[in-house]
Amino acid sequence: MSSRYPAAWLDELRSRSDIVQIISGYVALNKKGRKYWGLCPFHGEKTPSFSVDGEHQLYYCFGCKAGGNVFHFYMEMEHCTFSEAVTQLAERAHMTLPELERDEDYERRRTQRERLLAANKEAARYYHETLFTPAGAASLAYLRRRGLSDGVIRKFGLGASPDEWSVLSDRLMEKGFTLDELTLAGLTVRKKSETGKDRYFDMFRSRAMFPIIDAYGNVLAFGGRTLEKREPKYLNTADTPVFNKRKGVFAANLLRQQRHLDRVILVEGYMDVVSLTQFGVEGVCATLGTALTAEQARLLKRFAPQVYLGYDGDSAGQHAILRGLEILEQENVPARVLDFPDGLDPDEFIRRDGAEGFRNLPAISPAAYRLRRLKEQFDLSAQDGRLAYARSASEIVSAVDPLERDVLLSQLSLETGFSRETLTEQMKLSVRKDAVRTSETVARPRTSVRTVTGEAVSDDIKAQELLLSLFASGKIPKDMIEEKDFDDDELKSLYRELAAGASPASLPDLAPDDASRSRYTRLLLMPASGSTDEMISMANDCLVRIRRTKLENRYEELSQEISSAAGERLSALLQEAREISDKLKKLK
Ligand code: GTP
Ligand code: MN
Repeated sequence: MSSRYPAAWLDELRSRSDIVQIISGYVALNKKGRKYWGLCPFHGEKTPSFSVDGEHQLYYCFGCKAGGNVFHFYMEMEHCTFSEAVTQLAERAHMTLPELERDEDYERRRTQRERLLAANKEAARYYHETLFTPAGAASLAYLRRRGLSDGVIRKFGLGASPDEWSVLSDRLMEKGFTLDELTLAGLTVRKKSETGKDRYFDMFRSRAMFPIIDAYGNVLAFGGRTLEKREPKYLNTADTPVFNKRKGVFAANLLRQQRHLDRVILVEGYMDVVSLTQFGVEGVCATLGTALTAEQARLLKRFAPQVYLGYDGDSAGQHAILRGLEILEQENVPARVLDFPDGLDPDEFIRRDGAEGFRNLPAISPAAYRLRRLKEQFDLSAQDGRLAYARSASEIVSAVDPLERDVLLSQLSLETGFSRETLTEQMKLSVRKDAVRTSETVARPRTSVRTVTGEAVSDDIKAQELLLSLFASGKIPKDMIEEKDFDDDELKSLYRELAAGASPASLPDLAPDDASRSRYTRLLLMPASGSTDEMISMANDCLVRIRRTKLENRYEELSQEISSAAGERLSALLQEAREISDKLKKLK
């Protein structure tokens, strides 16, 4: 977020709004070591993983990864925007607001974003009002037929797009929105007709409308359900400057209001969310017509300590569960599976069996669920089938904690007829195989790019991250490190800012999104312990590793090229290879 406030003024406000003091107003904090600790206000937890770093003026939750400076804490706590947080904290610190600096690019983007959100909000209001007029009668009848009460319809702000070509677009243009803006927002479709004239019409027509609202109450997009059997069943807003379907979830606004959830239930369909909510189930949300992404997994972590997957009982849903479990595991989100019987989806199930039936649905552990799915692939009435099942199952069982392992082993023993001892032996084999596999992956050449999801960080990046943390502590001599020691863009820019004298507390303001803000904060926290000498020596280890990796990679490239080069090119390459080899020797 590029800010319109002068940096020096923000620094002053930050230093007059002590983060430990502000957060103490909301959370009971205890000092332990260098940091203060408390129960995280952003997700339910019983042991403190929420830390406040008074030296660097940052907060970070090791459980849900929420983090930032005092402004972000205030924004999250009070559900307000950056400028609102700044204004209110300035008032508290008796500071007058400065003249805002003009940053034209920022203002253009911010204005565009605000205008698109305003258009969406206007559209949501229109659809919702229309639902209760003759133009929305068909949609209202449809939603009622699906069993929805007026209460839940209002809670979700459901609506109707009428059976007309351009009422919404015309109305919004009357209110001053341009055709360009409406097209960008995904509300209006524009087509050149054969005569070359511009034609436009409403994106959503004759559908029951589900507004997609974020945790701050912004209407980002819509899903529209056909009232008849028409394709597509759901029409969703494509990605726009304010909407990315891979990043949000449906009903984030309601999740935000339901504090201290002990789990979030993730389902596939909007209708499932609405229906479960009507039956009194809390903490339900859905992905936006795509499979679960890492970004969404991280988002969910901020609402509750674990996620229940409540996907459809059909085979597509069951496949999505296995994939979803993998994503959640990668993001370290504890998960369980709600296994809906008879191929039902959550909506159908709760209508059939009621809230009581839903409460009694067992929440299965990932390993138990994987075993169940694995078992379906084998014929357990045959010896061969039992053997093959036991072999594959051992691998799953070997990955769980000892208590659950005990339960699963008993179950497996019953299913296959092998004794627990035999299965345990087999399991040890799988563990060993696993170890070999892991060491193979580590031995593969390291790449130094982050994946799109920002995870799966290589050892090399880890060394760069540690180096940056050490540098942020201010205890490392400035000339020890160079910008080119970092090859991850975010790390490079954090380094550049710090080297230019920016305070660690100011840097989360620069993060482009929540995931980056979380990462920036984690890296900028004061290292937990260590004397200056220890920090310098750690930084040195990191540097050796980073520089060595870089040289080795280049050496590798050179040897490839050398094998096919000739003449002058060859001698240049050989010369460079010799130099690298010398440098490598010196590094060791
Ligand atoms: P109902 O039939 O209304 O109960 O739908 P559902 O909530 O059971 O949805 P379903 O399980 O069929 O689909 C789950 C989700 O996938 C929906 O909420 C949509 O987000 C998405 N989806 C379903 N059908 C389509 C489609 O035709 N096109 C697109 N783009 N998305 C769809
Ligand atoms: Mn359904």
